[in-house]
Amino acid sequence: MSFGSSPVVGLDVGTSAVRAAMVRSGRGGYALSSFGQIPLTPETVIDGELRDGGALTDAVSRLWKRSKIRSKKAVIGIANQRVVVRQVDLPYLDEKDLRASIRFQAADHVPMPIDEAEVDFHILHDYTNEDGEHLMRVLLVAAASDMVSAYVDAVQEAGIEVTGVDLAPFAVARAVSRAARGEEGIAGAEAIIDVGAGVTNIVVHVGGEPRFVRILLVGGDDVTAALARELDVSFEQAEAAKIDLGRGVGLPNAARVLSREVDALVEEIRGSIDYYVSREEGEPIGSLIVTGGGSLAHGLVPKLEHSLRMHVTLATPLRDINVKTRWKEEQVAQIEPVAAASIGLAIGAIAR
Ligand SMILES: Nc1ncnc2c1ncn2[C@@H]1O[C@H](COP(=O)(O)OP(=O)(O)OP(=O)(O)O)[C@@H](O)[C@H]1O
Ligand SMILES: [Mg+2]
Repeated sequence: MSFGSSPVVGLDVGTSAVRAAMVRSGRGGYALSSFGQIPLTPETVIDGELRDGGALTDAVSRLWKRSKIRSKKAVIGIANQRVVVRQVDLPYLDEKDLRASIRFQAADHVPMPIDEAEVDFHILHDYTNEDGEHLMRVLLVAAASDMVSAYVDAVQEAGIEVTGVDLAPFAVARAVSRAARGEEGIAGAEAIIDVGAGVTNIVVHVGGEPRFVRILLVGGDDVTAALARELDVSFEQAEAAKIDLGRGVGLPNAARVLSREVDALVEEIRGSIDYYVSREEGEPIGSLIVTGGGSLAHGLVPKLEHSLRMHVTLATPLRDINVKTRWKEEQVAQIEPVAAASIGLAIGAIAR
């Protein structure tokens, strides 16, 4: 890493926008040399899945034209219900042999036809059980091939070669937590929560080893949709009303809807965290980091703290990285909550 790397681009296709971060590593750590985003039209991505490939191709083309990203290669992220993450124990094999047999081994553990899935894995650790058998704990990631290729094809159609596909929640964890990158130790487990527009990702890791992943199909857009429905206004008007409410501007009726919807989001998140904690091996969570545009919803952070009885830290992925662009403070405030996935996708590819 001390010799520096050629730049790598992380491309995060979110529900509300597509974002690209160009990152390189050097002596001073990681550096963000360029960042850009283009809003996506509604219904381009629904529930984390690509529905309108043409709209994404168009947005990616515009993103590359507008930003100073020169590389024509990118790593993309995915997070939806058609990707599953499973922790499994397998007889010990070295990495090469596991790679050769992974599809066969995964077939029993993955709830989708293995011929229609992309399979990846991370070896967590190996151990010897009570019977003296040498085993290994492996994190399996399986994603429906057609879902993945829809993303890959749409991006490549814009002239950008996709050199890797990663799980978006892992990317986010990497970008917001030194502990998740294995650069520092912390006591216990750490939870990282990315509240997006349509998807909320939760990762719990211990020392950089993922222990729990949950992809929830809820986010800030549910709050907006409820406001639109109950105030009888357009989605755009409801979005503006939601932002205004965060500044203390708005009618009591709107504030009530917002509060109720934020409560519902918090409940969903708490349900997942409770599930993790209740599991046998659920190591206590000592640190909780939140990011994503949806986390800016008025009241979400204090409600989460109250519900989980824990301090919540807002992620600062731009503070941990050498930012090469001179942004104004308000630009940093806009970019910081939504930059983690793209930055983490790039970091993951550099570290590999
Ligand atoms: N100031 C704000 N107050 C409240 N909500 C906000 C604010 N800014 C952005 N949001 C909300 O954040 C959400 C977008 O978050 P983000 O950009 O992280 O999602 P995304 O990455 O596009 O989508 P996803 O990850 O869910 O696929 C939207 O629902 C938007 O309304
Ligand atoms: Mg997102």
